[in-house]
Amino acid sequence: MNTIEAITNRRSIRLFKNDDIAKEVVEDILNCGRLAPSAKNRQPWYFVIVKGEIKNKLADMMVAYTLEHDDTIERKKLNCASSVNPTANVIKQAPVLVLIFREKNDNWIVGDNLSIGACVENMCLRATELGLGTLWIRDTVYIAEEVSKMLNHEDMELNCAMALGYANQTPTMRPRKDLKDLVEWYDA
Ligand SMILES: Cc1cc2nc3c(=O)[nH]c(=O)nc-3n(C[C@H](O)[C@H](O)[C@H](O)COP(=O)(O)O)c2cc1C
Repeated sequence: MNTIEAITNRRSIRLFKNDDIAKEVVEDILNCGRLAPSAKNRQPWYFVIVKGEIKNKLADMMVAYTLEHDDTIERKKLNCASSVNPTANVIKQAPVLVLIFREKNDNWIVGDNLSIGACVENMCLRATELGLGTLWIRDTVYIAEEVSKMLNHEDMELNCAMALGYANQTPTMRPRKDLKDLVEWYDA
């Protein structure tokens, strides 16, 4: 599969088969994240792989968060339904969850976040090439502090996560804006 095929074939996967993933395959995908460009070559990512009970506990923490917090205001602000519980369900049935941590550093928030985006997309594309499905996850943000504590990584903050597994669905491409509505040229 070449680059353009990986880019166009990748989908967010929210239904996974039970099949586990070989450690070498997970490491191959993490390695592609490691090779991503980063602002000032800071390589601000750190990966913690969670499976089984710890992974499911994390999903339960997300559900508990939604029960404890009235997120109506945030939902109104975002003008969309909360996706935290559906995302927690995806985490439960995915065999592997990659947590992407960022070293705490207030001076590098934008650069580090952009870099982590490049890292995660590299991993999503490599997973696609290897026949695996991914879901890039932001909804772990609500339990970020709790997760850092639970995993003894309070020096870092949980940036996002990526669910990984063999897809049990084949979604069609979700809508995209037209290129003509996204581009301006000043080439005179
Ligand atoms: C930074 C980022 C965070 C995301 N967080 C979530 C999430 O928490 N839960 C979820 O179900 N999908 C999440 N998604 C997936 C998006 O909903 C998805 O990429 C978008 O709807 C387009 O669909 P596609 O990935 O199949 O092209 C996230 C995607 C990105 C890039």
